[in-house]
Amino acid sequence: MKKKSAAPRKSHPGGFLQLGWDKLDINKLDLRYNYGNSVVAEFVSDHDHADALRELVQNEYDAGGSRLQVAFGTDELRISGNGSTIDAGGWKRLSVMLGTGQVGRSGRTIAQKVNGIGSKNFGLRSLFLYGDQIYIRSGGLQTVLDFFYGTLQDPEPEPHSKRLPGIEIVVPYRTRKRKGLEPFDVAHELQALESFAADLTPM
Ligand SMILES: Nc1ncnc2c1ncn2[C@@H]1O[C@H](COP(=O)(O)OP(=O)(O)O)[C@@H](O)[C@H]1O
Ligand SMILES: [Mg+2]
Repeated sequence: MKKKSAAPRKSHPGGFLQLGWDKLDINKLDLRYNYGNSVVAEFVSDHDHADALRELVQNEYDAGGSRLQVAFGTDELRISGNGSTIDAGGWKRLSVMLGTGQVGRSGRTIAQKVNGIGSKNFGLRSLFLYGDQIYIRSGGLQTVLDFFYGTLQDPEPEPHSKRLPGIEIVVPYRTRKRKGLEPFDVAHELQALESFAADLTPM
């Protein structure tokens, strides 16, 4: 006599097996909203120098600034604007690597910038084109976005920036190729400046 198999097996009309499945209960699990940094790398690789400049100009415009300085130093990119300082909603946006909306079950929701050209909370991350860290200070506070490690949940104090009109951003240049992101050096700087010039030249 043949032994009966333990698991009940039903043959699907299409010929596939239909097995029982006790599905996981999402309400009992510690689910996290995690993703790898290739998502950020992909966003960056869709951007060139002119795109990055456009994002900076848009942000400055949104902050009501009248002056934006973008300076290629010997080993870092330095950006300063004289618009409004970063408000609570802005620091919250900078507390995630990118995006808006709900952050898993953390209870945090990232609101879009209102009345701005930018609203996706992606733009500033185009600065990963130049380096692996984006340091930001404004109105007495500071944060950093690190391509590998992520962001700070809450900004830290930075007293010197209390005297700044708007915001200051520093991106130390990437010195080695990383995960599809190119290093930034003098040759790339020339490319960047040409790209800026082409973008700013009226048609
Ligand atoms: N030049 C700036 N002046 C003041 N705040 C800024 C400036 N640039 C960026 N920010 C703050 O950083 C946030 C993130 O910028 P960004 O990544 O470009 O996203 P978005 O513009 O879509 O909100 C902005 O929402 C804003 O709060
Ligand atoms: Mg923006």
